[in-house]
Amino acid sequence: MAEADLHDFPSLFSLKGKVAVVTGGSRGLGLSAASALLQAGASKVFISSRKVSACDAAAAKLNSLPNLSPGAAAISVPADASTLAGVEHLVAEVKKHTAHVDILLANAGATWGEAFDTHPDSAFAKVMDLNVRGVFNTIRLFTPLLEARGTVEDPSRVIITASVAGLGVGTLGKQGTYGYSASKAAVIHLGRNLAVELGPRHIAVNSICPGFFPTKMANGLLEMSGGKDRIAQGNPLRKLGRPEDIAGAVVYLSSRAASHVNGAALEIDGGALWVSGELGAAGTESKL
Ligand SMILES: NC(=O)c1ccc[n+]([C@@H]2O[C@H](COP(=O)([O-])OP(=O)(O)OC[C@H]3O[C@@H](n4cnc5c(N)ncnc54)[C@H](OP(=O)(O)O)[C@@H]3O)[C@@H](O)[C@H]2O)c1
Repeated sequence: MAEADLHDFPSLFSLKGKVAVVTGGSRGLGLSAASALLQAGASKVFISSRKVSACDAAAAKLNSLPNLSPGAAAISVPADASTLAGVEHLVAEVKKHTAHVDILLANAGATWGEAFDTHPDSAFAKVMDLNVRGVFNTIRLFTPLLEARGTVEDPSRVIITASVAGLGVGTLGKQGTYGYSASKAAVIHLGRNLAVELGPRHIAVNSICPGFFPTKMANGLLEMSGGKDRIAQGNPLRKLGRPEDIAGAVVYLSSRAASHVNGAALEIDGGALWVSGELGAAGTESKL
């Protein structure tokens, strides 16, 4: 293709006919991403989280979006991503509907806040099991389905929801999130390793690193850190993340437009990661 020939530009960001799986898709960032994938043209989006009723409700909500492509569907597949048996169940259920997956958003995650001296071993293990082991198992067991339709021109995509807490120092002190921060650094590096391992199998692997988005997971920490307004005012862009900010990043990384992006970690935090310590004391000392 010559430099000026971008004749396929109208389809560059389209996800027409793509099949996607979103873990932790029943609410928060996963639900925003699933909604975006469907509205960008995906034909099937599998929504997974532990609670059956929450998964079913999320799928129903997505299926009632007014602008879906004909035949497009969200499908509820409850599963616990923190156990190998849970991930095996998820893959087996997805296989009943499709022989390939184009996009895997490994998004399910959990956190735990407690002071360093009393930080429980069980909490550290729980966070690692879901945020690191769960992500590895999910990617590993979905690889045969991801390989099925990936090509040099348009590789299948894995997107890991990491965090800016895995790039800078996370929340310290009374609500220290030591396990969480370590887990997010671990999955970012896992993503780089898998980008090189799976690239030749036509699967690109990237991470997104959100800053604060008000979700069930973040709201408690936001309150304890002085509230949403205070944190927003400490952000260089003077706001928290919004559903559209996740939507845009996930659609981009899933689309042909990003078919040469592999092993990247994309910050979606308004630049909060780069705020100096002094400014941080005015509102950005907490990171999720
Ligand atoms: N919000 C933020 O500010 C922020 C910032 C940086 C990174 N993140 C990351 O973004 C991801 C999504 O978080 P969120 O903020 O959207 O939180 P959220 O609203 O609490 O959503 C978490 C999702 O994960 C599911 N989940 C929890 N444990 C699970 C398990 N064992 N197996 C399968 N699903 C499970 C939950 O559903 P069930 O309870 O039904 O299982 C829910 O769908 C996480 O990886 C988080 O670390 C969030």
